[in-house]
Amino acid sequence: MDFERTRQYLEKIGQSHLLKYYGELSKKDREALLSDIATCNFNIFKSLETKDETKKLGKISPLAPLTIKDIEARKSAFEQVGLDTLSQGKVAAVLLAGGQGSRLGYDGPKGTYDIGISHELTIFGQQMANIFDVVSRTHRYFAIFIMTSSINRAATEKFFLNHDYFGYPRERIFFYEQDLAPACDFNGKAFLAEKHRLFFAPNGNGGWYSSLINSGLGRVIERESIEWLNVYSVDNVLQRICDPVFIGATILKRCACGAKVVRKTDPDEKVGLLCYENGRPTVIEYYEMPENLRTKKTKGGLAYSNGITLNYLFNMHELNVTLLGKMPYHIATKKIPHIEDGKVVTPAEPCGYKFETLTVDMVKMLPSCLAFEVERDREFAPVKNLSGTDSVDTARELLRKNGVEL
Ligand code: UTP
Repeated sequence: MDFERTRQYLEKIGQSHLLKYYGELSKKDREALLSDIATCNFNIFKSLETKDETKKLGKISPLAPLTIKDIEARKSAFEQVGLDTLSQGKVAAVLLAGGQGSRLGYDGPKGTYDIGISHELTIFGQQMANIFDVVSRTHRYFAIFIMTSSINRAATEKFFLNHDYFGYPRERIFFYEQDLAPACDFNGKAFLAEKHRLFFAPNGNGGWYSSLINSGLGRVIERESIEWLNVYSVDNVLQRICDPVFIGATILKRCACGAKVVRKTDPDEKVGLLCYENGRPTVIEYYEMPENLRTKKTKGGLAYSNGITLNYLFNMHELNVTLLGKMPYHIATKKIPHIEDGKVVTPAEPCGYKFETLTVDMVKMLPSCLAFEVERDREFAPVKNLSGTDSVDTARELLRKNGVEL
């Protein structure tokens, strides 16, 4: 788009302020600004129109999980199907590593955090070690798609290179970048990060699928006839990836997706809950769940106890038909550095909105989801904070419990 057309377009959508510094820019910077504007999806801001509407939950009901006991009873059948599916090359892994890990307060990709004490033990390293437990049984290296952000991609790739891909074949690891979304002030005006650049931020962990396809990696999925994607977060060091029992159970239960869940015993624990809304699977954030349901008890414990661990298995076919391009945006109030009166300001208080998609919304769009219960102490050690709940300290303790030397 040339300057004049850009000007008219911005006027129409109420974003003319983005050209405020155009007159002072060099030719190269002018081009960069026009290109940012042309590629920016301003439609995302439309979600602000419904921001203040209180979301009315539909009819919520519990979703019965496949319990640890149920799984144990059919473990060998599940496992066999899972191992066969993996051996046939029909499963790939997707690591969500595009987050900024701001709570951890660590300046680098979260996966490079060294949780070891006497020797190096990074989160990426530990997760790769967990992967070898599976490939040593199937003798086949499944594809690992690693979603980074434009902010941490170079550092992530370099880290894997410097660690010789942890012994995994280089050609089976595919890095890609998650798409970006613009951010705006409380009046819906897009922020400039520099006089000639719009402010963009990673578009949330739900961007993993559309970004994977947009990156061109859909060709690998097609070429290898991959049918299932195991999506997992970077921050759980006990993450079991491409677990054959989980894969087999999701397939034999004929579900469009599966989610590894831990049994919640504390109603105040800050994990999302997998349940039904109007008869369809859904994940409800702990703060969205009405108090009476959150604390509701049955004789077995909490009525709503499927705590999600961010380890999902998605059927490719279901994803293709249901999802592409349809993910809703969630609005988060944040401190966003931006240009004001010609200078970069780093606000001490939240000053606007970022827009994020969430993987949990995929579960809501699919027809069925298996809640696959796992042992909390064996599979769930989230590293969100430096100390306290879900922290480096608690993860270390759980790693020790699982026989990992620190
Ligand atoms: P979190 O929701 O914990 O976000 O991510 P975060 O950015 O890592 O951490 P905080 O909130 O700033 O402290 C859950 C998972 O989703 C990934 C993260 O890397 C993590 O694996 N994620 C999050 C993305 O891949 N992209 C995003 O834009 C956000």
